[in-house]
Order: sequence, then C-alpha cells, then structure tokens
Amino acid sequence: MLEVNSIDVAYGHAKVLHDVSIKLNQGEMVFVVGRNGAGKTTLLKTIAGFLKPTQGQISLEGQGISGLAPEQVARRGVRYVAQDKKVFSDLTVKGNIELAAYAAGEPLEQALARVMSLYPKFKDFLQNKAGGLSGGQREILLIGRALVGEPKLLLIDEPTEGLAAIVIQDIFRILSGMKETVSGIIVEQNLSVVSRLADRIYIMKEGKIERELTDPAEIKNTAELENYL
Ligand SMILES: Nc1ncnc2c1ncn2[C@@H]1O[C@H](COP(=O)(O)OP(=O)(O)OP(=O)(O)O)[C@@H](O)[C@H]1O
Ligand SMILES: [Mg+2]
Repeated sequence: MLEVNSIDVAYGHAKVLHDVSIKLNQGEMVFVVGRNGAGKTTLLKTIAGFLKPTQGQISLEGQGISGLAPEQVARRGVRYVAQDKKVFSDLTVKGNIELAAYAAGEPLEQALARVMSLYPKFKDFLQNKAGGLSGGQREILLIGRALVGEPKLLLIDEPTEGLAAIVIQDIFRILSGMKETVSGIIVEQNLSVVSRLADRIYIMKEGKIERELTDPAEIKNTAELENYL
C-alpha cells in the first residue's frame, strides 16, 4: 500500500537520508529501529509530508504523495503520531478528541467511543485538561486521536519512549489490538515490544536502510536485535 522509493532527504544542505526505500503491504505492522540520529523520525516526517525528498518518490496505493502538504497526506488516510507526545494541554481530553473528530469528519460520539475503547479510564478524565495526563496517557490519547476517522496508515514515532514498564504494557496491548484493522510503520527502541509485534523490521543506520528482517526467528531474537542499537 505504501512505497518509499530511493528517497534522499536533507535539512538545508545537510543530507540525512540517503537512497532510502521501504514498502508496506496492506495490514502489515512494520517497525523501524536504529540508533539515535539514524534518521527514523526524518523518514516518518517525510512520509507524512512535513519534509520533501530531494530525490525519489513516495506512493500510497499507487498514487504519488511526496509533493503533497501534510494536510493533504492526512486526507488520504495517513496519520502521524510525533515523538514529542504533545497534546493540546489547555484543552480537555474531550476537547482533544473533538478536534480530531472534526478534522476527520467523524461524529463526536463515535470518536469518543473509539478512544475510550482503547483506554476506558479516559471516561473519568474527559473534562480534565489534557496537560495533566501522564506521559503514557498522553501517548494513548494521541494514538486514539490518530485512529479517529479510520485511517489507512499510522506512522507512530517511539510510542513507549520514556514510559514506565506498566504503561508500556498498555501501549503494547493497544498496538497489538490495532494489528487487525490498520497498517502501521512504527519507530521503536523497546526491542521486546518490537519483536512481539513486528511483521518485518527495517534497521536504519546513518541515514540508510542497513537491513530488512523478515524471518520470524530473527525478529524474535532480541539479543541479536540489540546489536543494531
Ligand atoms: N531540524 C533539523 N535540522 C537539522 N538537522 C536535523 C534536524 N532534525 C534532525 N536532524 C539531524 O538529522 C539526523 C537524523 O535525525 P532524526 O531525528 O531523523 O533521527 P532519529 O533516528 O529519529 O533519532 P532519535 O532516535 O534520537 O529520535 C540527525 O543527525 C539529526 O541531528
Ligand atoms: Mg527520532
């Protein structure tokens, strides 16, 4: 459904992605792993339309999207959950969901039900400011918002980063439940999460795709995966 074909991406004159190609089949959950600075966030931001490749193409269901603005990419059914876990802090939890419902053209009740089904505790927090949520709850809210409107493709950048083990289990459960309904590219450093959920893994190093792992035995082998971090 998604094809990233030999893209180069630069910040000003500094080229950070070099000839990167990845693909995603319908229904797959693919993980991207690599050290800090490898270019993982840059890759997701480029697919989401926030950065333009200087070379190469990106296509979604056979149509080129690399020239589109982020809103246009979103309208084609791509949702990007950034690494920074930023919610609209001054709005309530409900207000955050309302904005997503409005943007996606989904009825509010349906959007609320969708997010609450991920994390029923939000029922007690709907009128609270989103800024008061824990890091894990913010991430869950962001993933929930991203699911509003039934997107085709989710791009999630380091969902478990900085979270306590117990909340990582919540995120794991949510990602695991999503596998049925949505295709996803997830950047993640928690190799236990990666190895349990990945259909395939791309290893990034210094702005390039160093390897692609497809063998289930390799994907399960977290000790081996450690070598790439
Ligand atoms: N806005 C920017 N301007 C200039 N260089 C940047 C910018 N953002 C990132 N870079 C550089 O691009 C390279 C790739 O960064 P990127 O954030 O994509 O890596 P990453 O793999 O997501 O790292 P991390 O694991 O720390 O999140 C790094 O060398 C980084 O310093
Ligand atoms: Mg990053």
